[in-house]
Amino acid sequence: MHPQSKQVDSLPREVPRHVAVIMDGNGRWAKRRGFSRSRGHSEGAESVRAVVSECRRLGVSQLTLYAFSTENWKRPATEIHFLMNLLGRFLAAERKGLMKNHIRLKAIGRLEALPKGVRAQLQKSIDLSRDNDGMILRLALNYGGRQEIMDAARKLAIEARRLDADPPELTEAEFRRVLYDEEMTDPDLMIRTGGETRMSNFLLWQCSYTELYFTPICWPEFREPELHEAFQSYARRERRFGAVKPERPHARTPSVVESR
Ligand code: IPE
Ligand code: IPE
Ligand code: MG
Repeated sequence: MHPQSKQVDSLPREVPRHVAVIMDGNGRWAKRRGFSRSRGHSEGAESVRAVVSECRRLGVSQLTLYAFSTENWKRPATEIHFLMNLLGRFLAAERKGLMKNHIRLKAIGRLEALPKGVRAQLQKSIDLSRDNDGMILRLALNYGGRQEIMDAARKLAIEARRLDADPPELTEAEFRRVLYDEEMTDPDLMIRTGGETRMSNFLLWQCSYTELYFTPICWPEFREPELHEAFQSYARRERRFGAVKPERPHARTPSVVESR
């Protein structure tokens, strides 16, 4: 099927359409080397560049990166300040690259609580890249999965009150419409770097059938080869979504009518 598979060992067979990443381990990577945590975050920004362009090259259609959680405000003010500053600079510096690579930038989270300067940089890139159709790069900023679900429930309650309607018969599609990004599909693959094996409040509603990939590699060291390894792991999996694997691909189950 893939005659060159030995040679292109690092290239995955099946590329997930939507990849979500918990970019963790910046601080530990830095500490181990005697650097400040900030240095770990700066190096992490280089991994973002590498992973974004490799995902684009491999044909991923959506990439959602967890950059700042609703819980990350618990960190020291100096670290938060550094992270917000880095984010603002990153957005400005990457704008040209987004356009060149036809990448559309989106953001999810309680964005109104971000510093004004960051919001401005974010909005500028979102507006400028609106019509790009190469890949969606979605940043989760001041994002919490539980908060997203609560915000959605609140929106529905407000809508019902405004329409003076009875509680609506709610379908999954209607619920999805009030999540932060109604165009967002469920991630096919969720990668977490840094060795922790938890969700840390990321995409709780959307990851119900997502394939999970955990690696001890810290985010600043996660580059193209590590991404390929994650994709290879994904390609080896069998996604059943609760069903059973059919024994023969074209086996036909006789219907009740036929068997009478
Ligand atoms: C991830 O790395 C970056 C953010 C959460 C913003 P960490 O800063 O959490 O690094 P560790 O987990 O402390 O090593
Ligand atoms: C998750 O990492 C959040 C981001 C990567 C933005 P954390 O470092 O905040 O998660 P915990 O505290 O280890 O669960
Ligand atoms: Mg962490």
